Amino acid sequence: MKLNFAKPEMPKTGAVVVGILDGRKLSPGATMIDRAAGGAITRAIEASRFKGGAEDALTVLAPNGLQASRVLLLGLGKPEKFDRQAAERVGGRIVVQLQNSGESEASVLVDGIAGAEITAAEMAALIAQGARLRAWRFDKYRTKEKADDKPSLKKLNLLVSDPAEAKRLYQPLDKVADGVLFTRELVSEPANVIYPETLAAEAQRLSDVGVEVEALGVKEMRKLGMGALLGVGQGSAHEPRLVVMQWNGAARAKDKKPLAFIGKGVTFDTGGISIKPAAGMEEMKWDMAGAGAVIGLMRALAGRKAKVNAVGVVGLVENMPSGTAQRPGDIVKSASGQTIEVINTDAEGRLVLADALWYVQDRFKPRLMVDLATLTGAIIISLGHVHAGLFANDDELAEKLLKAGRETGEPLWRMPLGDEYDQAIKSDAADMKNIGDRAGGSITAAQFIKRFVDTVPWAHLDIAGMAWSSKDRPLAAKGATGFGVRLLDRFAAEYET
Ligand code: BES
Ligand code: MN
Ligand code: ZN
Repeated sequence: MKLNFAKPEMPKTGAVVVGILDGRKLSPGATMIDRAAGGAITRAIEASRFKGGAEDALTVLAPNGLQASRVLLLGLGKPEKFDRQAAERVGGRIVVQLQNSGESEASVLVDGIAGAEITAAEMAALIAQGARLRAWRFDKYRTKEKADDKPSLKKLNLLVSDPAEAKRLYQPLDKVADGVLFTRELVSEPANVIYPETLAAEAQRLSDVGVEVEALGVKEMRKLGMGALLGVGQGSAHEPRLVVMQWNGAARAKDKKPLAFIGKGVTFDTGGISIKPAAGMEEMKWDMAGAGAVIGLMRALAGRKAKVNAVGVVGLVENMPSGTAQRPGDIVKSASGQTIEVINTDAEGRLVLADALWYVQDRFKPRLMVDLATLTGAIIISLGHVHAGLFANDDELAEKLLKAGRETGEPLWRMPLGDEYDQAIKSDAADMKNIGDRAGGSITAAQFIKRFVDTVPWAHLDIAGMAWSSKDRPLAAKGATGFGVRLLDRFAAEYET
């Protein structure tokens, strides 16, 4: 999608998009278009159920008096409710309405809304970002798609009184979108393309934007005693990797201690010897979505030159059954020294995180740690596909994450931790076992991970219900969502100096 910011004028070609407020109140742009079209817009509205609500849309084709081929009327709802998220969604709604219309270009007349909390320039920038996010699709392997089935919309003009300001505001949003789309791309790729080595290579590309990237191999991880992570990977023909990404953008020395983000990167989760049922197993190609989000986040932070120090670490393994795979009952020793009885080889994400979190804490002494993982099916039972689960050992950190979630439309819901849950993961043979019973499955998983965190403020995001969507969403076509990138970019922004 090409995005272009310019001064308002009467569009000579393509579609023209105008806003209508709740109660059929025409924006200045809509009024101008209506006049040029001899009142055709008002008549079309009167002939329809279009009320100007925040979900309403109406297309008027080929009105007399206009050179534009169609007018798309978008309801904007009530002015006082029109916030940043509403503006992003307008971008998404424009794409939904026009992407398969045959139209290749659209011009949006962006007017300020009296009583709204954002300016016209902000609106234009947010509409642009929303459009870019919603327009992305993973189509590189479709070789036979007919031209008529491909999206037609190629270019969006945002016509606004101060295009220079809109363009300036759009720059960081564009970098964040780069991060989100990179994540979606990585998460969408199948497991024969993305496995630990190739995912590490993708992360390595971040050095182009100034991120320092290292990848540890099996030998180094063995030296560090990462028996938990290595045990998960030992059944695969693809060797594990641990990738470390550092972005040092903080302006002052006193803000040096980094924020740390850790991702579960199981590039395919068969379950291992505790193998999963065949139906739906293909979904487990996105069991690296936590790692994907961390990589995309690092790209976003570096891309927009965030004034913050951040480290991203992703544990990359493939969980396969084979003659070399770990067995139920195996006991592994983690880098922390704690031993784990692996009762179920399908509870592998927590084993990967155990060593990754320990490593980050030990090496970087971070200010705080946030991990992201498609960790449990149980979190989908708890929260559906609406919130990701948030577990934290620190209330202030939890509040900051909840706030960032609300502001970015990537909502979290706090779940409990507590010593009472430790009972469930007691082992007779080792320091702990890697599963409890079915009860509180997401909580016992979080409680397990917590044992590998010392005193650092830490939060765990279980994103199993949010990383992939079987339905279209306002800012993402069905498929990989890129969940976590915008959330944590906003969260990190609070620490900029
Ligand atoms: N990757 C899965 C969790 C998952 C399930 C993610 C569905 C996305 C959609 C994880 O490794 C897993 O297999 N968890 C098990 C844990 C169980 C064995 C204690 C689960 O949730 O069933
Ligand atoms: Mn699993
Ligand atoms: Zn998994």
